[in-house]
Order: sequence, then structure tokens, then C-alpha cells
Amino acid sequence: MKVVEPYVFHHMDGVIEGLEVQHNLKMYDDVAYLYERKRDDNPIVYEVYSYTQGEEGPGHLNWGLTILKPILSFEECNMTKGHFHVNKDCAEIYFGIAGDGLLLFMDESGYTWAQKVCKGSLHYIDGHWAHRLVNVGDSDLKVGACWSTDAGHDYQSIKESEFGYRIFKRRNGLEFIKR
Ligand SMILES: [Fe+2]
Repeated sequence: MKVVEPYVFHHMDGVIEGLEVQHNLKMYDDVAYLYERKRDDNPIVYEVYSYTQGEEGPGHLNWGLTILKPILSFEECNMTKGHFHVNKDCAEIYFGIAGDGLLLFMDESGYTWAQKVCKGSLHYIDGHWAHRLVNVGDSDLKVGACWSTDAGHDYQSIKESEFGYRIFKRRNGLEFIKR
């Protein structure tokens, strides 16, 4: 029997490395519109690693890692853009690796709620729920993800109808402000 070495590693204390792993950086200026008050500088806000061997069609999977930096925009917590899936038949699984976060959910009626994300937490995301990660800790929030290659990302619906809450980190704790 032929035994081959793995092509790709997901280092739980590091990143995804190997053949055909994609790496993208997101800068603050690209997502500044998300925040109530804008910063003047342009730091890295999150990094995304992704890996697939599949095509964009039913039955194929992506694996990914998001690293969300512990920065604030005038006390508002760093967040991903958030999205619905274009194909709402496609669910997704998130996996907490490090840090402290919130996974914001929003259903199609705009109802918004959150689940805590921490090392080892597992999150099943229904295909009809928009999802956004928020770093509420003091270190990198690292979250693994597995999703269908034909899920697609619908960011436009979020621009038109945002998640129901903004999340701020105050001196005495988190504050959730309804939009
Ligand atoms: Fe997704």
C-alpha cells in the first residue's frame, strides 16, 4: 500500500501551511465603513487562510482559518464583514482555536443574537443565518471553518441591512448597542 505524506498542515498554535493554501490580508480601510467612528490609521484587521481541493460545485469543501486582530475602532470591537451564503442550502461549521470572541448570527428577519467563541468551541451555522466574528478579547481570535465550495458570500445584504447590534468594549465590560 502506498502511504503519502500530508500536503497541508493546520498548526493549531500557528496557521495553515502547505500546497495551494491561499492567504489574504484585510486592512482597516477596506472595512472602515463597518464602524461608527473611523480610525485615522490603516492596520491589518484580519487574515484569512483557506484551502480546498474541490471545484465550485455541490459536494466540495473549503477549510479555512480566520485570525481577527484584537484592535478597536474607538472602543468598537474588531469584526469581520459578515455574510449570508448565496446558496442558503449550505451550512457551515466554525471551530474556536484561540482567543475570546462572539459569533454574531442574524436570521432573514433581522433578529440578531450571539454565541461565545473560545478555544475548542464548535459552532453550527444554519445556511439561512448571516454570520460575523467579533474579537472581544485582548489577543488574536483564531477560528477554523469548514464550508461548501458552492456556498458563496453575500456581503451586499449585510451592507443593506446590518446586524442588529454594535459591540463595544468599555472599561467595565462589553456593551451591546442596538442599531
Ligand atoms: Fe459563511
